[in-house]
Amino acid sequence: FEVDIDQSDTDKGTYPYYMLKEIDEQPAVIRRIESKYISQEGNVHFDEKLLEQVSKASRIYIVGAGTSYHAGLVGKKIFEKMTGIPTEVVLASEFAYDDPLIEKDAFFIFLSQSGETADSRQVLVRVNEEWQKNSLTITNVANSTLAREAQFAVTLEAGPEIAVASTKAYVAQIALETLLAVAIGRYNQRDSALHFDVAGQLSRVANAIQTVVDEKSQIEKIAESNLTNTRNAFYIGRGLDYDVALEAALKLKEISYVQAEGFASGELKHGTIALIENGTPVLGLITQTKTADHTRSNLEEVISRGANVITITSEKLQRDGDNIILPEVDEILTPLVSVVATQLLAYYTTLQKGYNVDQPRNLAKSVTVE
Ligand code: G6P
Repeated sequence: FEVDIDQSDTDKGTYPYYMLKEIDEQPAVIRRIESKYISQEGNVHFDEKLLEQVSKASRIYIVGAGTSYHAGLVGKKIFEKMTGIPTEVVLASEFAYDDPLIEKDAFFIFLSQSGETADSRQVLVRVNEEWQKNSLTITNVANSTLAREAQFAVTLEAGPEIAVASTKAYVAQIALETLLAVAIGRYNQRDSALHFDVAGQLSRVANAIQTVVDEKSQIEKIAESNLTNTRNAFYIGRGLDYDVALEAALKLKEISYVQAEGFASGELKHGTIALIENGTPVLGLITQTKTADHTRSNLEEVISRGANVITITSEKLQRDGDNIILPEVDEILTPLVSVVATQLLAYYTTLQKGYNVDQPRNLAKSVTVE
């Protein structure tokens, strides 16, 4: 076979690092996904047989590792809202050796940028040998092992991702999960999916991400004054903001070697708050109306213990003194926008510390051992 890769996709051009190029590409990635999967009339296209099978499932399992697992956490909430089907997200390396109670009509969705992660493949082997073979791989590499071995496969259309730290693949995975969830929900005549203008909402997301990347110099300053000289940091949030907190912390750990933790903001007081010292950076994600006030009070709790609080909020929830303000998008899609600010924070922190952004120590882009 031949892989059709545009030369410009693998060329850094004028960018100092692939990671920055890939962060900047994200609005275009969303638009490319929209044009591949949504028709002029706003219909979402997937294989009819795939929709028929998933729509009958009593439970969906989303399987992933690393950043893909984090994209699954967000996907769970989108799937449950749009399809009404209970959805679980599992870490591939754990699930491969667990003894889960699998229903007859369970459906497995594998999220994997490379399509080669051994931990995820091990779960797929079990799905094919012991369970019901009902599986879909969502991957960035069309003819990868997972894509070949699953019953169905769809591609992310993110273009080659070269930096070890995943950015545009995460955003593409969530966009794809959204489209799939809407298509399944519509197939089952669910109001939440029928009334969701997925094309319009994803276009707003693309514009919002563009605004964030256009204002990167502001984020660079925030990184410089708050993160470059710290050994540890916390990202906190609730619900979808918590899911993003986990990915944001992973990004900071992976490339800038800051010991970062993503934490559920309400849970901090049950032990971990003991780690807050004078000057510890705590980055609060506030994009969800239902929990915004709660996260604000959790931030007050850490401020009174000396934390250096940085807030990342959506326009409608912003207050005086907030640090990074994100353009408004539908609340279920805020992870696609807030994560970009955190990718840039990790990028600039790493750059200022003088490390190689694209090739962090001890890490590989694709891990083919268990
Ligand atoms: C490696 C990479 C991570 C990635 C994970 C899962 O550990 O360094 O960035 O998230 O594998 O990879 P996948 O290709 O399955 O998404």
